[in-house]
Amino acid sequence: MSGVQQPVPSQGGAAVGPRPRQAVIDMVAYSPPTSGRAGNLRLDFNENTVGIPSWLLEKIRARLDAEHLAVYPEYEQIRPKLARHFGVHENELVLTNGTDEAIQLLVNTYVNAGDRVIVLRPSYAMYRFYAQLAGAQLVEIPYHATDLSFPMEELLQALAWQTRLVLLANPNNPTGTTIPLDQLRALLTAAPQTAILVDEAYYEFSGITALPLIYEFPNLFVSRTFSKAYGLASLRLGCLFSRSSNTAWLRKAQSPYSVNGFAVLAAEVLLEEPGYVEEYARQVKSAREKLCQALTERGIRFFPSQANFVLIQVGDRTRLFCEAMRRRGVLVRDRSYELPGCVRVTVGTPDQVERFIAALDEVWS
Ligand SMILES: Cc1ncc(COP(=O)(O)O)c(C=O)c1O
Repeated sequence: MSGVQQPVPSQGGAAVGPRPRQAVIDMVAYSPPTSGRAGNLRLDFNENTVGIPSWLLEKIRARLDAEHLAVYPEYEQIRPKLARHFGVHENELVLTNGTDEAIQLLVNTYVNAGDRVIVLRPSYAMYRFYAQLAGAQLVEIPYHATDLSFPMEELLQALAWQTRLVLLANPNNPTGTTIPLDQLRALLTAAPQTAILVDEAYYEFSGITALPLIYEFPNLFVSRTFSKAYGLASLRLGCLFSRSSNTAWLRKAQSPYSVNGFAVLAAEVLLEEPGYVEEYARQVKSAREKLCQALTERGIRFFPSQANFVLIQVGDRTRLFCEAMRRRGVLVRDRSYELPGCVRVTVGTPDQVERFIAALDEVWS
């Protein structure tokens, strides 16, 4: 199941309640297949595949008490710590309920209904989701079909029309490809009145960042997340960075309590122990190499990736392939609805890649 196209409730027949906004009726629903995953090898959502180490979990548990749960969350302590960690000033950072809230916050702050928003295709589904929800005029630019390279010329041409917001992922999901920094610079220069988000959810695996460019370009926004390498997807914590003149608007448009206190507590503990993230990213990069080598040896086509996942071409039976892998306890994601023949596989540790390859060999033969 792709988990993307879901039926929109019918508007005909007897009235069953108030009519929602037209944008809600028109939008494509997004409901990823998040159930029934426990106990399997989770290579379907690009999360941290092993979770934080148990000693670190204990450290978080030891700091949690009833008062933490009873009070509204406070951010005064965590902000300077996060700012130091990311090498920015406190005023250049906004805490968000995952990257998803960062995207929504940008749309809420800068986009009126009917405004032009540019996203690439394929890319992270929530860009389109929030733009459509806001009733924006959505422009989707396809990645180059042959090698999934970044459509720089097409994007520059699209920016000739007044655009409020551009949402880019670097590396991109699901392609795993990156946008060279000189091309990002050219885009930021070409559209100084357009807010441009560079979503760096997979930064820890690519090592490429546009974050220092916020000092050069007042139209740049960069996001990071604790959902991927850090292993906190369920707590929903992210950061959005930009010039302080921009973050002031973002904070004004944001709920004062959108990040929960438990996420803040966990992040404080994790920031004291950054070594485990570096070690996990190192393992993933080594496992990624191992996976690509195994695929090459088997003559299976894939797209080189800078993230913790690889897009693999399995032919026209993607659904059967994913089901066969699931029966062997390995979850992978069918992306054929946007990239024919493609399945996305999250890269975990080298041992997990071995398990994936063993299952692949059974299914492929
Ligand atoms: C490019 C990209 N950005 C953001 C996210 C989600 O991040 P978060 O969990 O911080 O909302 C994902 C998740 O798959 C993603 O692929």
